[in-house]
Amino acid sequence: MILLITRRRFFGQSFGITTGAVLARSLGLKTGSFGIRAAGRTGSTPMIITSHPNPTGQAALEEVWDTLAAGGSALDAVERATNIIELDPEDMSVGYGGLPNEDGVVQLDASIMDGRTYNAGAVAGIENIKHPSSVARLVMERTDHVMLAADGAKEFALSFGFPEEDLMTEKSRRAWLRWREEHSDRDDWGPPDHLRGWEDEQGRGIPEAAGDREAFLRGPELSTHGTVNVLAVDARGDIAGITSTSGMSWKVPGRIGDSPIIGAGLYVDNEVGAAGATGRGEDVIKACSSFYIVSRMREGRSPQEACEDALRQIDARYAAVGIDFRPGEKFVAINRDGDYGCAWNIGEGPPAMSVMDTAEGYRRHEGVNTTG
Ligand code: GLY
Repeated sequence: MILLITRRRFFGQSFGITTGAVLARSLGLKTGSFGIRAAGRTGSTPMIITSHPNPTGQAALEEVWDTLAAGGSALDAVERATNIIELDPEDMSVGYGGLPNEDGVVQLDASIMDGRTYNAGAVAGIENIKHPSSVARLVMERTDHVMLAADGAKEFALSFGFPEEDLMTEKSRRAWLRWREEHSDRDDWGPPDHLRGWEDEQGRGIPEAAGDREAFLRGPELSTHGTVNVLAVDARGDIAGITSTSGMSWKVPGRIGDSPIIGAGLYVDNEVGAAGATGRGEDVIKACSSFYIVSRMREGRSPQEACEDALRQIDARYAAVGIDFRPGEKFVAINRDGDYGCAWNIGEGPPAMSVMDTAEGYRRHEGVNTTG
């Protein structure tokens, strides 16, 4: 899913944090290892979720479900599901078809974490490899390192037999070419100066290839951030997670987002649960958001509450320094009981996620928009 981030005046939000395991025990509520089930949705295990509520997200969960339900590992399930999403050519935020950097080069970031062993792997800025999440898994399992970047990550992938492939689709290339022509009137890209802005009532002046006239006139988005998180608990209670992305569109070449950074774009702990982030990675890195969400769950917050806490933490920090900037993130989280939640501080309406478990099968779940 692509998140469109806009700058607008920031309004601070109150940062109310309540509750705890002690209170829960005194009230006789069901407790997890460290926390209570409070607000948000309860689930069951095994279970798997993705931040993608679209048909590809659903298809990915359904594809891996039988194996996970029959005792397959959470680690295998999150990798297989992510691979399906990474291959979707219509998804302009992840893997094949993801939007490129300002030079028209697709640079992918991904991370994986195993909550049983606390082992993790990641790749950053990898080019021409369709499945960065699988390369991240090899970094985790076949090296003593956590992250490989750029050419080193690509060489590593090639050594394991990954094919080198063009990750641009016609759609993503057209979006990039359009961005290059339109993002500034102070360079030499775009129509000749004397035709700039020229268009008659019949729309002459708009290239045939542009397709949808309204979309063409709206122009390209300034920048987009999109990513996918896949988190699962298996029948043994082991928890795993992956975050995979093409990162911020039109980014400065070499820019790395939060997705490959353990504790920022992803964190998994068998004793508690897992969390993943999408949205503007710069905010998520500085707030260590996924680690924060898991820490909040350890303290007794539900996945839903912990996601909201993390957004309010970011919002409060921007408000505290008076910056006229609206951060934009979406968080998803699960705990070891199979409870789940999601929240964002972006746009209109609630965020959504895909959930699959034994109790209810597949459903699209709507979380909370903390902007109210
Ligand atoms: N969350 C994806 C990125 O900022 O790169």
